Amino acid sequence: MTSTLITGIGELTTHDPELGSRTDAALVLDGERIAWVGAACAAPEADVRVDVEGRAVLPGWVDSHSHMVFAGDRTAEFAARMAGQSYSAGGILTTVAATRAADDAELTANLRRLVTEAVSQGTTCIETKTGYGLTTEEEEREARLAAGLVDELTYLGAHLVPAETEAESYVDTVTGPMLDAVAPYARWADVFCERGAFDEDQSRRILLAAQRKGLGLRVHGNQLGEGPGVRLAVELGAASVDHCTYLAQSDVDALASSDTVATILPACDLSTRQANAPARALLDAGATVALAANCNPGSSYTTSMAFCVTTAVLQLRMSVAEAVWSATAGGARALRRTDVGVLRPGARADVHVLDAPSITHLAYRPGVPLTWAVWRTGTRER
Ligand code: NIG
Repeated sequence: MTSTLITGIGELTTHDPELGSRTDAALVLDGERIAWVGAACAAPEADVRVDVEGRAVLPGWVDSHSHMVFAGDRTAEFAARMAGQSYSAGGILTTVAATRAADDAELTANLRRLVTEAVSQGTTCIETKTGYGLTTEEEEREARLAAGLVDELTYLGAHLVPAETEAESYVDTVTGPMLDAVAPYARWADVFCERGAFDEDQSRRILLAAQRKGLGLRVHGNQLGEGPGVRLAVELGAASVDHCTYLAQSDVDALASSDTVATILPACDLSTRQANAPARALLDAGATVALAANCNPGSSYTTSMAFCVTTAVLQLRMSVAEAVWSATAGGARALRRTDVGVLRPGARADVHVLDAPSITHLAYRPGVPLTWAVWRTGTRER
């Protein structure tokens, strides 16, 4: 097991309440874990020494929402949207058709490509979902191919009712044989609770069946308009409700008095020309906010967490510190993990070095690629 001393840190963001943020810092990675954090002058020796010469160091991004198991793309749909058409959930079926037609090697290669792209930009913990299969066999295939390539896997058989299928009988499948087939690979279950996808009763049925099966809950809610998604997520104790673009005051209040994280997806809202999510209102009310990239070919074809942080600061009125926390520790909360999104002894050795002296540059220099080095589970990836 090799140990690595990262020294010469100009600004260290730890998200550990005792360690805080510090200057002139160093940290030691030992195998897959962080072994030591402190002042550069007090750092112990290690096998390898990397001097980052005054750069900023922070935890790797925790991207708690993506849909990376797919084939094809939807460039034409995106172009039509930028020319004035509106986004609708129905586009998901285009990707379902392309994904079903792809063989295992193609799906795996595409997933690997996206994971590599994300990691090279500082993402070190990645969640992804099934949801472009929508039959028991196809959902099981997506879960099987993704397991082991990402950190967290979510069952999203309830992404949309497939064409020419009656909704109630599809819910029977999602809560029955499909759940049985996918549950062994997944930690989480999710439902797209939205007009045009699954209504409140169907969503509750799906989530309760998954909970009985031992899966943790997540919800896609309030993406295209106000609706029951947030309320249901809070009622059932979901770890996270994702999108949260259109919230009533009662949704904000419910989130603020719950353990359910409000995960905001700024790249998705921009790519679908929706309103700005009310990040400021959520934070001011005391809700826990996460930021995620939502990489998928329809509504948000990006793996860039830095872009999400930048836009959260410039558009959603989050401070830089809030946005960076939400894209790291907030994502970890949304995944109910304490070992990522934080730099402290014992945490996973997921480290992101910026080619900048401070995290403020993430918003101060919008669009400039700032990732200088990345360690993921102790392995240097860049
Ligand atoms: O999170 N909202 C549902 N699912 C994805 C969109 C998927 C698609 O359009 O292909 C999302 O935005």
